[in-house]
Amino acid sequence: MSDTKEQGGRACACAGHPDDSGRRSMLSGALALAALAPMAVVSLGASAQAPAPAAGTRSQKPEPGDKLAFMIGPKAGKEVKPADVEIGKPPLLAYPMDPATGKVLISKANLLTVVRLKPADLKPTSARNAADGIVAFSSLCTHYGCPITTLHPSQTQIVCNCHGSVFDAANRGAVTQGPATRRLAMLPLTIKDGALVVSGKFDGPLGPPTT
Ligand code: FES
Repeated sequence: MSDTKEQGGRACACAGHPDDSGRRSMLSGALALAALAPMAVVSLGASAQAPAPAAGTRSQKPEPGDKLAFMIGPKAGKEVKPADVEIGKPPLLAYPMDPATGKVLISKANLLTVVRLKPADLKPTSARNAADGIVAFSSLCTHYGCPITTLHPSQTQIVCNCHGSVFDAANRGAVTQGPATRRLAMLPLTIKDGALVVSGKFDGPLGPPTT
């Protein structure tokens, strides 16, 4: 089966695609964006106040209780507060942050696209994982792995700019326009003591299908 057929028969606009070198290029692009974070590993002020847990006590994936930290910008490495995520604003890129150590868990697989929708716009599939309208998805496009960085004019969908796939943030990341064929994984959030907190694990596979 050709790649084009695997991706729902939609033609892609990128030069060199869909051969393997194109795929590697896209994945490299996503990695490069992740590497834009101005720190390899960020330890916030909390690290000086709380003892680090023993090695191996947690995975490097997001876990319930984690907070979120800005990936880029003047607040890079700082905690994302609910008020930082505004309706109609471009998606915020973030990583999970261990609340015990302040360590930001930087990896391509942990990059999140976070947006806020009007609660009334959320379908039950997204509402159950939302915190006051704030929803978080794996940023890895399920087509070729580019980061999801753009808000659709509908303000309820998010867009991958590599080849134009659109995902419905109001409906658990469902694909509304290809070439991607698989929804984005959603990371459940809640608000606890005024903080934006992860409340579960990713609810599906990350990134492009491997077969
Ligand atoms: Fe192709 Fe996202 S990587 S649409």
